[in-house]
Amino acid sequence: MVKLIGYKKKKTAIFISGAGSNLKSLIKFSKKKKSPISINFIVSDNPKAKGLMLAKKNKIKKKVFNFKKIHKIENQILAVLKKHEIELICLAGFMKILSKNFITKFKGIILNIHPSLLPKYKGLNTHKRALNNNEKYSGCTVHFVNSKLDSGRIILQKKVKISKNETKDSLAKKVLVQEHRLYPKAIIKVFNL
Ligand code: GRF
Repeated sequence: MVKLIGYKKKKTAIFISGAGSNLKSLIKFSKKKKSPISINFIVSDNPKAKGLMLAKKNKIKKKVFNFKKIHKIENQILAVLKKHEIELICLAGFMKILSKNFITKFKGIILNIHPSLLPKYKGLNTHKRALNNNEKYSGCTVHFVNSKLDSGRIILQKKVKISKNETKDSLAKKVLVQEHRLYPKAIIKVFNL
């Protein structure tokens, strides 16, 4: 894990694509005195991402990038992150896959939260797949991001029991509540606090 040298909050960028409920919980976490992070930038691939409203409300700089041109914009994103001295990227409901080149070039830490008990159910539609397989439990995972999808070293997980008449929507809601608690705990663990 990473030692937090000298209690300076780690400058963090959050990458979102949608509602931004994880972003909201990370903003709340970052405002705590003991939080090891400050949120300095928000990146999205989706100009309509509701989470971008949180950037405005919390006076956090934001930028939308067209990830269809990933190779063209990668260096732009890296330059923006460098300009803002970003040391930590938290992917939070971010639906694009960062290239190996980006991950290698970014010298900080990249974390992701995934709505399943990895290594099970990498990729999309995790709740539907867990229900189709009659799983007894699902949950969420925070992991380091490497060049393979949802395959980086696991930091923390939280199990969620699947009820008898669970639907993918009810399970998503249950897991999301745990995601909001898990991400801050995982960040604290990464900085070994
Ligand atoms: C969450 O389940 C997250 O794990 C997944 O996208 C969903 C929405 O996240 N990647 P958010 O509300 O946009 O943070």
